Amino acid sequence: MEVRGIDTPRLEWSGDCLVVGLFEEAVEITGELGELDQKLSGTLAELIAEVDFKGKEGSSAVTRVGSGSPIRKVAVVGLGKADALKLETLRRATAAAVRMGKKEKCKTLGLSFPVWQENAALTAQAITEAIELTLHQDHRFKSDADENGNKLEQIELLGMAGQDEAIALARSIGLGVILARELVAAPANIVTPPVMAETAEAIAREFGLELEILEQADCEKLGMGAFLGVAKASELPPKFIHLTYRPAGTPRKRVAIVGKGLTFDSGGLNIKPTGSGIEMMKTDMGGAAATLGAAKAIALIKPDVEVHFISAVTENMISGRAMHPGDILTASNGKTIEVNNTDAEGRLTLADALVYTDKLGLDAIVDLATLTGACVIALGDHIAGMWTENEAIAQQIAQASELSGEKFWRMPMEEKYFEGMKSVVADMKNTGPRPGGAITAALFLKQFVKDTPWAHLDVAGPVWTDKESGYNNAGATGFPVRTLVNWVLGD
Ligand code: BES
Ligand code: MN
Ligand code: ZN
Repeated sequence: MEVRGIDTPRLEWSGDCLVVGLFEEAVEITGELGELDQKLSGTLAELIAEVDFKGKEGSSAVTRVGSGSPIRKVAVVGLGKADALKLETLRRATAAAVRMGKKEKCKTLGLSFPVWQENAALTAQAITEAIELTLHQDHRFKSDADENGNKLEQIELLGMAGQDEAIALARSIGLGVILARELVAAPANIVTPPVMAETAEAIAREFGLELEILEQADCEKLGMGAFLGVAKASELPPKFIHLTYRPAGTPRKRVAIVGKGLTFDSGGLNIKPTGSGIEMMKTDMGGAAATLGAAKAIALIKPDVEVHFISAVTENMISGRAMHPGDILTASNGKTIEVNNTDAEGRLTLADALVYTDKLGLDAIVDLATLTGACVIALGDHIAGMWTENEAIAQQIAQASELSGEKFWRMPMEEKYFEGMKSVVADMKNTGPRPGGAITAALFLKQFVKDTPWAHLDVAGPVWTDKESGYNNAGATGFPVRTLVNWVLGD
């Protein structure tokens, strides 16, 4: 499937279906739209009247055009109020257009959408992202995947000639998001810690990135007792992944992305009961998956920024070798942790990953983790939590998220709640009381970052969706690869 920007006016476009984006205040057929309607013998006006189309966001309609016309079908997609137009509105409208185009068996689609804030590059990028992400369907585990039927072959973005670079950027980012989606969606018997390491190897090999995989013995030498405590009961070897992208010249900044990488979280001896969503715990490597997805996108884009992609990957299992509730672990910074709940394992793996990353002496660290159910209770499935005491990073993430349409809400790093993590026997426990559970998790992580400006993203809710929504199909979303890439590319 090809996406290209063209400057053919909509009056002259020919193909299977022309999709016109319309604002609420612009559904009256006047001016150039009137000319188009005339050319289509009044079909556009009829369609709008027939379905009482008002231009509302999320609404759309399509109809057949009489034979003899250079276009087979015409569709309208609502864009809401003109002054409230967002890039995300265009992405959702694009998703609607693409889904309609597939349903209507179109090979060629023409999208005629307005430019957002006179920024044709960002507009073309957003539309192309939505095309790629809507069309990505994961049939790897279906034996009867129905791939036949007409397929979309070409989508032309009207008025977007000269935006090849923006379109290519969107495709690179799309490939990163798709990698993350496929890693998250694959079950724990397929995506294991060694497979995560092999995925990093494949990226390193294909794009010439530097790669270091620390094996269990290497982690032991570094004193990563927290990470290895979690890994103890698994039959599979833990893998500590450190992938590095270095630009050709002097880097403008040096940053790290650190992802929680639990390929399965059974809860350990504090095992997750039926009804707790244990069967979804293959998604507990969503942070690491987005880290590798971002690595692939960055490797394709080649910005002038040095980026370290890090994940301590393992499973949280049970066996005679499992850590016991109450065990005391020593992390690689020397701090001791009383494991009062083996199901709070993500923070243990991240503790050693953060100590390691902090020592690299970078300008900033962002970690992302499917860390707590408490964050999902607080913010729901569509919004991730962000914790940072660094105003600059908070702003950078907010800006990156504004462009990506992936939502974050800044949460408080409330020191007082760390009292709940006090241990009688060790420096800290790994879990506090239930109230504020996402905040105490962030405070726990903070104990392992000494010198580097840092932000923590709890993405437990948005990495998965049970229902199709906009450009996300049901399943893994690839959240927050696009925000991470924007963050790296930004100031
Ligand atoms: N991986 C889970 C968090 C999670 C829950 C992600 C639901 C996605 C959906 C994490 O390791 C966990 O088990 N957290 C516990 C912490 C508790 C024991 C303090 C939780 O949130 O219940
Ligand atoms: Mn857990
Ligand atoms: Zn977990």
